[in-house]
Amino acid sequence: MKFRAIMGALCAAGLMCGVSAVQAAESIEVLHWWTSGGESKAVGVLKDDMTKQGYTWKDFAVAGGAGAAAMTALKTQVISGNAPSAAQIKGPLIQDWASQGVLVPIDSVAGDWKKNLPPEIDKIMHADGHYVAAPFSVHRVNWLYINKAALDKAGGKVPTTWPEFFAVADKMKAAGIQPIAMGGQPWQDLTLWEDVVLSQGADFYKKALVDLDEKTLTSEKMVGVFDTVRKIQGYFDAGRTGRDWNLATAMVINGKAGMQFMGDWAKGEFTNAGKKSGTDYICAVVPNTDKAYTFNVDSFVFFQQKGQKAATPGQLALAKTIMSPQFQEQFSLYKGSIPVRLGVPMDKFDDCAKKSYADEQVAIKAGGYVPSLAHGMAQPDAAAGAISDVVTKFMNSQEDSKTAVQALAKAAKTK
Ligand code: GAL
Repeated sequence: MKFRAIMGALCAAGLMCGVSAVQAAESIEVLHWWTSGGESKAVGVLKDDMTKQGYTWKDFAVAGGAGAAAMTALKTQVISGNAPSAAQIKGPLIQDWASQGVLVPIDSVAGDWKKNLPPEIDKIMHADGHYVAAPFSVHRVNWLYINKAALDKAGGKVPTTWPEFFAVADKMKAAGIQPIAMGGQPWQDLTLWEDVVLSQGADFYKKALVDLDEKTLTSEKMVGVFDTVRKIQGYFDAGRTGRDWNLATAMVINGKAGMQFMGDWAKGEFTNAGKKSGTDYICAVVPNTDKAYTFNVDSFVFFQQKGQKAATPGQLALAKTIMSPQFQEQFSLYKGSIPVRLGVPMDKFDDCAKKSYADEQVAIKAGGYVPSLAHGMAQPDAAAGAISDVVTKFMNSQEDSKTAVQALAKAAKTK
């Protein structure tokens, strides 16, 4: 009675009315790793939307690109019985968490999702025939960002093959520009390495990183992949150890370095810094990968709260908001991605996003649409982690490519 009376008074004062007054009692704790400039701006759209709907947003941000630290924090929370309302989880990990019996289904707000999602992605959002995850956007991983002034100063052209790439890198070096900005965490090593795998063809990528086919993993072509990575490393600066991806992006934004291999969340940083594609920077695809597209789809899953098997109103509202066309548009404009929901207008997006969209359609038709290993879309944690260790060991030692390839085939067997 007392609660109602207070809400009634608030309503009369024009502050909170009806459903939202009741919902105001629910606070939703959201675990994510979106802490860079562009990322926080993007997740801020969701926070504002939810706050407007009367929910209290409890931010549980765990810094660290690609989410390794966030995943460790999540496990601790769930084990100690303090699972957040929602957490940023993607790819096969969604099924992993669902099989622990700790997620809630969100079917009641997903009525029109099937017809509005690419089938490959719709499938990933399910476990046991129920929707358990809500997708945000599609990131393309195989991008190469180039500082336009640095490219002009060096007198180079946008590279489309590896020989062209090394020619540009040499020209930058000769012009006194640090050719490549590279960060220093295992997932960044793996991102570059999978780019080079993709440059051998989408079929090769699929056989190697989706099917984990031993013959492909130990092939001469794979030895060549490691050789190319070794050569690319020759253009890194000495200070990369431990460097975050967004600090490497800042080097390209500020003209301290010429190029960065990174997924299009990097574009969120350029946008956040007020830079324009085509004028200040160029979004080029990784050499030899123009027909292919490594996808990385972020999503949230929803955890049982206080042992309840059904989603709370706040969790359902969150899932519904994430898939709403307006949110999908604004989130991706800040994040550097493209909406995952089909049919969201692209007219407010820049040329890079339009290219991503167009290339996605081509890649889907041509069989070049492949899941990113480095971003948790291609393999369960154990195998992805073991492969990542091999790549990072190679990139941080003088190991030869043939030895690395043998270690790779062994790692792929990790269950
Ligand atoms: C990816 C994630 C992106 C971006 C990036 C760097 O794994 O999918 O949304 O945040 O990490 O943090």
